[in-house]
Amino acid sequence: MTDYALLAEQVRSLAEEDAGWIALLANTTALVMDALPDLNWAGFYLARDATDGSSELVVGPFQGRLACARIPFGRGVCGRAAATGETIVVPDVHAFPGHIACDSMSVAEIVVPSHLDGHVVAVLDVDSPVLGRFSSADRDGLERLVSVLEDVAQRSVLG
Ligand code: SME
Repeated sequence: MTDYALLAEQVRSLAEEDAGWIALLANTTALVMDALPDLNWAGFYLARDATDGSSELVVGPFQGRLACARIPFGRGVCGRAAATGETIVVPDVHAFPGHIACDSMSVAEIVVPSHLDGHVVAVLDVDSPVLGRFSSADRDGLERLVSVLEDVAQRSVLG
């Protein structure tokens, strides 16, 4: 079992280093990869305006195999979570219409959006090669972790 309370505390401590967002997200990714068993990919996609004025996600700090660099809001699991602002837990990616297969090892996935001032600014994406890998405890725990990041962003500790 993952100790999500500890994980949240570790992320809070990392934020105190005041090393900037990329450093915090990179080290958070490393903590997630270490703390959760049976993962093959973990990381962040960051929201930005695309050249046509729509919103898209661009890959940020991650651990795992080569990832899709750009995902339009609404597409795949990440894009859907970004567009709706809600966490999505996918027990079997093959049963998720529009799933974007970056790593063929991925079978289960959870995507947790992160908000700032009412907008989705990033998503945490975690993939597993194990069917049905993510429980409601994982969902609650990862949402808690993302809420720590949201707190940090709200307090504008980092530049
Ligand atoms: N599977 C994701 C794409 C990102 S990779 O898993 C890293 C999706 O459908 O949005």
